[in-house]
Amino acid sequence: MNHFELRDGEMFCEDVPLLKVAEAVGTPVYVYSSATLERHFTVLQTALSDAGLRDDAGGPPLIAYAVKANSNLAVLATLARLGAGADTVSEGEIRRALAAGVPPERIVFSGVGKQAGEIRFALETGISEINVESEPEMRLIAQVAQGLGRPARIAFRVNPDVAAGGHAKITTGAADNKFGVSLSEAERLYAEAASDPWLYPIGLTCHIGSQISRLEPMEAAFLRMRELVERLRARGLAVHRLDLGGGLGVPYFNQPEPPAPAAYAAMIARV
Ligand SMILES: Cc1ncc(COP(=O)(O)O)c(C=O)c1O
Repeated sequence: MNHFELRDGEMFCEDVPLLKVAEAVGTPVYVYSSATLERHFTVLQTALSDAGLRDDAGGPPLIAYAVKANSNLAVLATLARLGAGADTVSEGEIRRALAAGVPPERIVFSGVGKQAGEIRFALETGISEINVESEPEMRLIAQVAQGLGRPARIAFRVNPDVAAGGHAKITTGAADNKFGVSLSEAERLYAEAASDPWLYPIGLTCHIGSQISRLEPMEAAFLRMRELVERLRARGLAVHRLDLGGGLGVPYFNQPEPPAPAAYAAMIARV
């Protein structure tokens, strides 16, 4: 449900006729409904909390909005006010999230192209976690952390080899996608990181695709994550946090309805 509707043939955003906006600022113009953003965020957060899910400090689970989806500062500020975090893939996105009022401890930094300078910025800013996409990147993060004299909180992005997403080009969790490390690599690297004084492995992350319209691939991927957590814990390694993605699909024209947030939350709680 969203707050754009036709009333007597005229399109409104909430109670504002879009014609009025066009007359005031000209076209083309992008118009976002803060009431819609608030509603969607609240529905998802309520579903996750009601299913008993918590963050690793015992608070409500963190919903980290992918800044790449829309980095408009007013959109980010609306979500920040609601308590959202930010899922970022560059220093620029981290800076936008901060400028919009997202606190550093709610920002996660993913992405396969992190530069040393960006890692340094993330560490200096004190963001919540850097998601490690590869072994060389883990070494680079350790090196930068040592140079700063500040250990890096990291999560390993696991590629669970489960394909999902509305299109091959937005599938991120298959083995031949460029993202993340395999389950076996993650186990080896997690143990290595745990004994590195400049790395603090806090957990695992996965993102298997965008526009996901079925729960089954997510459940398959999250079960593999669970098995890995069990293996790591059996080795005496602490795993505090799971950062799970991608997001539920958006039903654009003629696209399947995504699963209800409550069903999604119940599946995660079950796994
Ligand atoms: C780490 C990460 N976060 C977020 C996204 C955005 O997708 P979604 O909003 O569907 O989760 C992607 C897409 O590739 C991603 O790799």
